[in-house]
Amino acid sequence: MLSKIHIAHLPTPIDELPTLSAELGGPRLLIKRDDQTGLAFGGNKTRKLEYLLAQARDADARLLITAGAGQSNHCRQTAAAAARFGFDCTLVLAGQEPETATANLLLDRLVGAEIVWTEPEKRDQALQAVFEQADEAGRQPFLIPYGGSSKVGAAAYAIAIQELSQQLPEAPDWIVFASSSGGTQAGLVAGKRLFGVGSKILGVSVDEPGKVLQARVAGLAREVAGVLGKKAAFPAEEILVNDNYTGEGYGVMGEPEREAIHIFARKEGILLDPVYTGRAAAGLIDLIRQGFFSPEETILFWHTGGTPALFAGKYIDKLT
Ligand SMILES: Cc1ncc(COP(=O)(O)O)c(C=O)c1O
Repeated sequence: MLSKIHIAHLPTPIDELPTLSAELGGPRLLIKRDDQTGLAFGGNKTRKLEYLLAQARDADARLLITAGAGQSNHCRQTAAAAARFGFDCTLVLAGQEPETATANLLLDRLVGAEIVWTEPEKRDQALQAVFEQADEAGRQPFLIPYGGSSKVGAAAYAIAIQELSQQLPEAPDWIVFASSSGGTQAGLVAGKRLFGVGSKILGVSVDEPGKVLQARVAGLAREVAGVLGKKAAFPAEEILVNDNYTGEGYGVMGEPEREAIHIFARKEGILLDPVYTGRAAAGLIDLIRQGFFSPEETILFWHTGGTPALFAGKYIDKLT
């Protein structure tokens, strides 16, 4: 049995997006608001952290250590959860410390995380070194993997799809969302199987080649099923990933993301982020325009959070 600490405001709401649907001349659109999970601006990592923090607590940890990009949403939510449940927190962030801490980084500091900067290529070694030092110093560290995407973290999204199935009389034909470290997708894929949900689970890759992500999601989905007490195999080629929208690379906001952020904001008053949900929504919009979905289908866009990044200095000029 998985142990859990209650952190998130669940179930997150599901709303219709009628104006956006009409604007795009497309199918029925729904949105699942995991940007509203309620932990320091929330997001998909909050669900994962409910299980990861329980694991840390059960291991008698006192210090949570994790790593990510300078504007990592995962790191911000981990730091906030650590603050709330009395853990210390060290974040290993890739890149150079900016002169001014904005957006997620500002929030990391506000909630009291200790931050270690590292060159992106040396992130794994830096993380290992930080862990070993903390261990030697008797700080009882617990390592939370990139993106919270261990089998325990990813299991949160198997349970999330059960939540979704209890909210809707009929499963949507498609569930579309941003996929990166693969934990969210692996959980959804495993949950679909375990809870008999018929939706097709389409991850829009944020930064990985499709084949890499398919293999990772397939392996992790099998492990998630195992954690939930079921034996199940997931062939990599059956994992649905679209990697046509990775644009100019991770964290680079181009015209498609900018347009998606503007359309969601102006037609539905919903805020997306420049890195993940803006990119996934740009993919969704393009697929609708191409006629990829049939008009009778229902598409659920799973909003995975990330909105604090809207306020990162590098995006502000491009968004206004
Ligand atoms: C806002 C947001 N959406 C989507 C993702 C991707 O989720 P996963 O890493 O589980 O694939 C992330 C990961 O950091 C994220 O911050």
